[in-house]
Amino acid sequence: MGKFIINGGKPLNGEVTISGAKNAALPIIAASLLADSPSTLLDIPQLRDVKNLSAIIEKMGAKVQQEGSTIHIDPSSLTTPEADHELARKLRASYYILGVMLSKWGRARTTLPGGCNIGNRPIDLHLKGFKAMGAEVRLDHGVVEVTADKLTGSQIYLDYPSVGATINIMLAATMADGKTIIENAAREPEIVDLANFLTVLGAQIKGVGTDVIKIEGVDKLSGVEHRIIPDRIEAGTFMIAGALTEGEIFVRNVLSEHVKPLIAKLHEMGIELEEDITGIRIKGSKIPKAVDIKTLPYPGFPTDMQSPTMVLLTQADGTSLIIETVWENRFMHVDELKRMGANIKIDGHSALLKPSRLTGAEVTATDLRAGAALILAGLVAEGFTEVRDIYHIERGYEEIDKKLRSLGADIEKISD
Ligand code: EPZ
Repeated sequence: MGKFIINGGKPLNGEVTISGAKNAALPIIAASLLADSPSTLLDIPQLRDVKNLSAIIEKMGAKVQQEGSTIHIDPSSLTTPEADHELARKLRASYYILGVMLSKWGRARTTLPGGCNIGNRPIDLHLKGFKAMGAEVRLDHGVVEVTADKLTGSQIYLDYPSVGATINIMLAATMADGKTIIENAAREPEIVDLANFLTVLGAQIKGVGTDVIKIEGVDKLSGVEHRIIPDRIEAGTFMIAGALTEGEIFVRNVLSEHVKPLIAKLHEMGIELEEDITGIRIKGSKIPKAVDIKTLPYPGFPTDMQSPTMVLLTQADGTSLIIETVWENRFMHVDELKRMGANIKIDGHSALLKPSRLTGAEVTATDLRAGAALILAGLVAEGFTEVRDIYHIERGYEEIDKKLRSLGADIEKISD
């Protein structure tokens, strides 16, 4: 499964370029199947999740050709609305096949999705949306099948602004009959990127980026070229790396409006940042001030930045409180950080942190962002840290070891 060995305490200096956003690339790859002609997607990150989703749509009959960070997808040869079960289990985003194929052919089938083990991860809101549009939903031995003779637009209120449900319902509504209104919709930048792509394909979508999205179904969509937005979570992870270690990093290809909640917290911590249109410069070496953080749907503080930020707060001057409200099981990195000397107490959804000196240890990545946090901890810890099960990290960070090495980190990947 591979591991990273990090010799901590090295200053990081230089420039790092952020890849395209995983969580925008995945729904956009799926959405390309809605068109009747090929699309070209630029700045697609080369990640395990992307490879698995590409393999799923290839098995469904699409032609997929990848050259570096560019993918050409020709959906005109699709033969089945069913995702390969083995592959679908490997990533959460495989369920976007449901919205896409329901919209296009009125039927879709996939196994219940996998992904990080960070909580219950139900898909009831996705299914509620499909049902409101007239689809029949069958769940049998972990396989979901959705069918509709005629999918019709509907008014759907989401009990929670779920990213996945907003995307899946948007996808389904794109070619449904009539108007769909999604209320209490999620507002994440990845949803805006998907809507921009769909709009250029020919979809009629209004209100994206607000909590009410309106979609008027269309009959036909045609392929286009689209560049994926930069990955705000990868950018945030490198910004934290810069704040944690002595030195100065320029994080290139980040849209600062997408990382505003993190920038606000870094300012509160007293960390020096400079924003310009091409990226963000961040200086390390100052001891951060302790701050409190509560994760929330966008534009609140992102849950995906919770564990990386926690590592920074272990180095703060004072006591910090982190409240996780999005996922119920997202403190799995805490036990691993404690092995490195972190002083953290968990009480339900809250973590209370006191300053601590981190020392290298053998630790295990339990999910994607937990794994990133352990790498960050290794960068600031004294001595050697061994991070195991790095396949979780490679699902979401493109060549993280290579990028960190280019900044001066002493990190080595040992493949099995
Ligand atoms: C997306 O997951 C991201 N994944 C996650 O990133 C991210 O943590 C999350 O949004 C929140 O920002 C992808 O985009 C592929 P949700 P998603 O539906 O869509 C509950 C990463 O590290 N819920 O907004 O699955 C759910 O249990 C990953 O890159 C329901 O109750 O998130 C959770 O508590 C991890 N019923 C909350 O909503 C539903 O039908 C947020 O889930 C759906 C969700």
